Amino acid sequence: MTFEEELKKRSLEVQEIVYQYLPEEKGYQKLLLEAMNYSMTAGGKRLRPLLMQETFRLFGGKGKIAEPFMAAIEMIHTHSLIHDDLPAMDNDEYRRGRKTTHIVYGEAMAILAGDGLLNYAYETACKAFSMEPENTNIGRAMTVLAKKTGINGMIGGQAVDVQNDGKPLSEDMLDFIYRLKTSALIESSMMIGAILAGADEENVSAVRSVANDVGLAFQIQDDILDVTSTRQELGKPVNSDEKNHKTTYVTLKGLEEAGKDVENISHHAIDTLSSLPQENIFLEKLIRALITRRN
Ligand code: IPE
Ligand code: IPE
Ligand code: MG
Ligand code: MG
Ligand code: MG
Repeated sequence: MTFEEELKKRSLEVQEIVYQYLPEEKGYQKLLLEAMNYSMTAGGKRLRPLLMQETFRLFGGKGKIAEPFMAAIEMIHTHSLIHDDLPAMDNDEYRRGRKTTHIVYGEAMAILAGDGLLNYAYETACKAFSMEPENTNIGRAMTVLAKKTGINGMIGGQAVDVQNDGKPLSEDMLDFIYRLKTSALIESSMMIGAILAGADEENVSAVRSVANDVGLAFQIQDDILDVTSTRQELGKPVNSDEKNHKTTYVTLKGLEEAGKDVENISHHAIDTLSSLPQENIFLEKLIRALITRRN
């Protein structure tokens, strides 16, 4: 099997796991549940649960304990996308190849669907406690999940991002925003995979550093695709950053430099990963493939 075929297969397996945890669409709040599932089932690369699973495997993890967390991280990520697209934020009409949640269900229901997914993510992750009541790593994983989502993670980063629309930013400031709004959830994914497989603090810290770089490179590539791709290929609008008067790596450094940064930062991540005694060749190939991703 080629890497691309293997990636497709593993992403689909991950998606199947995520789907098992989606709420059933019933009761008086059925419309809310439909709106939540609308975006969850729209597609998407499933990169975060995939990174979690592959990091779990890197440290020899076996069994199903990571599965509720894989579903939870994809719910938190999807919540961040629904809210990111709202008129008050990036005001975008397409996501994952479909009309955005607020276009289909209205703004009030999109806000609630985002909130619903964020909270349901924690309800879902908590299911791990009853799967293995004696496993103290579950509490450690929960702490990481909560922290990386919050005020010093994704939500904090999104706040500083929107607060600076239309303002010139230094590279340091842009890095700060990207490491929070994008790296934090990728750190959470990989750290939780490591923690649940029983990795020690030193290894979890190395994994955090890998994920921090992967996230930064991922967001820079997202900036590049915003000006070089098409809506068909991306499944979301292009030129969203220009519309919102954003300073990005592309406006700051130009396309060519931004592309070199993606490469260098990703190679740094791979070097750190390779310094670990454990090995997962697929994970390394995945990080390498993200350098040239087209969606
Ligand atoms: C989009 O994330 C938001 C960013 C952090 C750039 P993805 O590109 O992983 O989106 P999906 O999950 O594949 O839709
Ligand atoms: C947002 O960055 C990252 C999130 C935390 C959702 P962008 O606003 O650039 O993400 P896209 O391009 O809309 O996916
Ligand atoms: Mg945004
Ligand atoms: Mg956006
Ligand atoms: Mg973008």
